[in-house]
Amino acid sequence: MNDLSTWRVSIFGLGYVGLSHAVAYALRGVKVVGFDVDREKIELVKKGISPIKEPDVVKHLGSLVKDGKIRVTEDHRDAVLSTNISFVCVNTPSLQDGSADLSQVKSAISMIGEVLRGKEGFHLVVVNSTVPPSTTENVVKPLLEDVSGKRVGEDVGLCFMPEFLREGSAVQDILSPWRIVIGEVDKKGGDVLHHFLLDVYRGKLPPLIRTTPVNAELIKYASNAFLTMRVSFINTIARLCELLPKANVDVVAYGMGLDPRIGAQYLKAGPGFGGICLPKDLRALIRTCEKFGYDPVLLKAIYKVNEEQMKHVVELVENVLGGLKNRDVAVLGLAFKAGIDDVRESPAIRIVNCLVGRGARVKVYDPLAMENAKKILGNKVTYASSMYECIKDCDAAIVVTDWKEFKRLTPEDLRKFMRKAVLIDTRRVFIDRVHEFDEKDIYIAVGASLLP
Ligand SMILES: NC(=O)c1ccc[n+]([C@@H]2O[C@H](COP(=O)([O-])OP(=O)(O)OC[C@H]3O[C@@H](n4cnc5c(N)ncnc54)[C@H](O)[C@@H]3O)[C@@H](O)[C@H]2O)c1
Repeated sequence: MNDLSTWRVSIFGLGYVGLSHAVAYALRGVKVVGFDVDREKIELVKKGISPIKEPDVVKHLGSLVKDGKIRVTEDHRDAVLSTNISFVCVNTPSLQDGSADLSQVKSAISMIGEVLRGKEGFHLVVVNSTVPPSTTENVVKPLLEDVSGKRVGEDVGLCFMPEFLREGSAVQDILSPWRIVIGEVDKKGGDVLHHFLLDVYRGKLPPLIRTTPVNAELIKYASNAFLTMRVSFINTIARLCELLPKANVDVVAYGMGLDPRIGAQYLKAGPGFGGICLPKDLRALIRTCEKFGYDPVLLKAIYKVNEEQMKHVVELVENVLGGLKNRDVAVLGLAFKAGIDDVRESPAIRIVNCLVGRGARVKVYDPLAMENAKKILGNKVTYASSMYECIKDCDAAIVVTDWKEFKRLTPEDLRKFMRKAVLIDTRRVFIDRVHEFDEKDIYIAVGASLLP
């Protein structure tokens, strides 16, 4: 094993994935240099301030920057020249047609390649961004070779290493991953990355797969698509539960999950899956299949069920109020899951837009994600500073994200603050307290029949 401080790594893209990696590697003793094209982000990180509210990044970034374990630079040349591995952690958002936009990846690879042209010695480039099958070999490799003037496998190595972290526990997920997948274009690059990881994980690696880049790319997309399939599946069962007296999807999911062939994860019915990865990766996988002439009916059905589930939530409110025009609706929770501030493709944002589109006046509240939501929703909605202010004088309230604090609301609060106690509970936060509602109140739980 090497002394970890001999590894010098640069990270291109200081978003959720890049910053979490910077912190995780620096905590293990690796010297990290961070680079981003966003100057505002660079300035914040330089001061040790995290631009994202990822708990362990917020906790450790300041001291790691102060101790010189993470250094950020606005000069990409400096980032490449002072390190021997560059990790590419830029975003791959959806294009209009659903395929992955590779422009950030191409730009980062061009920046790295251009500096490598004049750099001595072996340098490894690792793509962490989620890229569609064949991208590393057919897009990244030719671009890197062209810009750097070097051959992959000789003076430059190239790997794709998919990232499986979950926002909210990102640093911990990187430090204790369930598996590591190395998609190596060249063996030399794969060997260097394998050595680096052996050092980072102090010789105790989780299951590690070394394979072709296309297999690694497929493992990432297939894993995410599988998770979306579970969510759409349980949401399908949830819809049926709503129609069958005494049915509750949580009990059904619990019973299913006890079977080890099924497992309990990702069987939580709700407003649909969202977030930065699942919807965009599903779209990109669908487009990839279509590009190769295959019609992926299952993947399309997963997507359709998800779209319908969000619409279903809006329709529950619409039906209970007899229309949405000029009705006041409170939306509790905006982040795509509790514990984080990320609202990218959050079901809550989509539900808000749909409510507004159908004429409702919407008031929103989230314990952490208000700032990010404002950037997307602007002045379309009213922002409340507490859950009580949010429900005040509203005709209906919807719980979209299952933040713990929402459990503190009582039917008594709803009666006191709202015009009438009308609650649509997409996460069944209140299901155990259904008996506390009285006959005049309206309580509707997604996935549970309240029919006697
Ligand atoms: N966020 C997650 O939970 C997660 C989990 C697994 C995989 N991923 C994948 O990882 C990738 C990154 O996701 P993210 O959430 O960190 O994205 P992000 O948008 O939060 O961060 C991307 C960063 O890259 C920067 N950037 C753009 N072009 C650049 C360039 N040429 N050089 C340097 N920096 C540049 C942007 O300014 C931004 O700060 C995506 O492909 C995503 O699908 C994300």
